[in-house]
Formats: sequence, structure tokens, C-alpha cells
Amino acid sequence: MNNHPIGIFDSGVGGLSVWRELVKVLPGESMIYLADSANCPYGPRSHDEIKQLSSINVDFLLELEAKMIVVACNTATAAAIDFLREKYDIPFIGMEPAVKPAALNSETGHIGVLATAGTFDGRLYKETSKKFASGVHVHTQIGHGLVELVEKGNYESPETYTMLEKYLNPMLREKADHIVLGCTHYPFLIPAIKKIIGKKAVIIDPSPAVARRTADQLKTFELNAVKTHKAKYTFYSTGDLIPLQNLLNDICDFNVEVRAR
Ligand code: DGL
Repeated sequence: MNNHPIGIFDSGVGGLSVWRELVKVLPGESMIYLADSANCPYGPRSHDEIKQLSSINVDFLLELEAKMIVVACNTATAAAIDFLREKYDIPFIGMEPAVKPAALNSETGHIGVLATAGTFDGRLYKETSKKFASGVHVHTQIGHGLVELVEKGNYESPETYTMLEKYLNPMLREKADHIVLGCTHYPFLIPAIKKIIGKKAVIIDPSPAVARRTADQLKTFELNAVKTHKAKYTFYSTGDLIPLQNLLNDICDFNVEVRAR
């Protein structure tokens, strides 16, 4: 069991922003990544629909003997993590809305959060904001259309800049000094976001913290692979394989092959 892979899923290619952090923190672990690109985006779907899709993703990862599952999608975490934990008898790690570090470090008392509608609707986001951000002004914005642009590989197209400016400029006008990326697709837009916000705000990506939490949980459940295990990475997509392959080619310095689910 210990040498079995960690399963990771997202509505599409975005969860690779979490996978790349997991590889840094857990280089000895095998991983299977599933992009549900055929059903992307999850953001506008109902929580019931997302629970159903997440269940299908988990069943597939379990068929491939996943020992633990990282829900590398804020929207699926918001809609389905409680349901998944109840339904399946393995550990799940979800995405934490990173409002806490932004609120704690804000000097202006204003922070911005960019996420999907499904994430803002979730219990986790509401609870975290209430608990950690009650002393600051939180400027929320749904990133309509951004997930689709990342799925197409349009990280820095003119359309991407137009959309990002529309979403970020009002936050900057309100003096937000931290921008929380509440969707795992958005870290691939960081170069464009940086060009827009300059030094006015700090970008907060929760992926490194989620990777550290996964490492802690592996230890807690005594599920770490043995020292001699050679890590293997396998990637599946329910939709078009090309976006996943292209993004992997961009972020990996080794060859990886993408398979159809
Ligand atoms: N990567 C997903 C997230 O973190 C995108 C959601 C979507 O497909 O709309 O929320």
C-alpha cells in the first residue's frame, strides 16, 4: 500500500499547479493526475453536480490504487470534500482558501480574492473569511472566463490581459495589498497578473501550503513510500489531451505522457 500513488484531480489542467509543488515536497512518491477537462469548468455547476463528478474522479483514481487523494481544485473542495470524506475510507486533502495569510499580513486592511462562483458559495470559504478576515475588507471577484483561457493555454493573450485588468484593477483601486488566488488554474496566470499589479500587491498561491499539508498527512497515516521506491507520474484527461500535454511540457524538465481516461 505505501508504494501506491497519491491520486490528484482537478476540473482540468489547473491542478498541475498543486502537482508541481507536491513533487518538490514529496520527490519519493508516485502520483496519478486526472484532469476532468471534458466537464470543465466546474465553477458554474451546482454543488450536487460537482459531488457526482468528483465521485467519478475518485472511483477512477481508486481503481488505479491511489492511497490518498488531493482534491487540487478549490471548487470541488468547496462543493464535495465533506461528501467525499464521508463516502470513502481514505484520506483526502483539499484546497484551503488562503485568506488567513493575506489578512494577517495586510498593511492597508484590504485584500482581494479571485475565485470561482462555486468556491465563494462554499462553507469553507465563508468560515475561513469569518474566522481570519473579520478585521479586513475582503474584495471578492469571480474570475469568469479565466479557467477557460488557461485550459486553452492562453496565459498571456490580449483577451487574458483585458479580463485580468477588469478583475484586478477595482481591487487595486480599493488599495488591496494581497491578492489571493482561489482557483488552482490561476497560478499559471501569475506572469500576466504580476505585469498588471506591479509592486502594489502580493500574490498568494496556496499550493505550497497544500503540498506541505499532504506531506504531514502521509506521515500521520504512515503512508509514505519506502526509501527505495522510484516515483512514477501518470497523467490522464477526460477531454482533449493536448492542453494537458502542452502545459506539462512547459513545466516539466522530463518527458511525460498523457493518457485518455
Ligand atoms: N481549478 C479549479 C478550481 O480550483 C477550477 C474550477 C472550474 O473548473 O471552474 O477552482
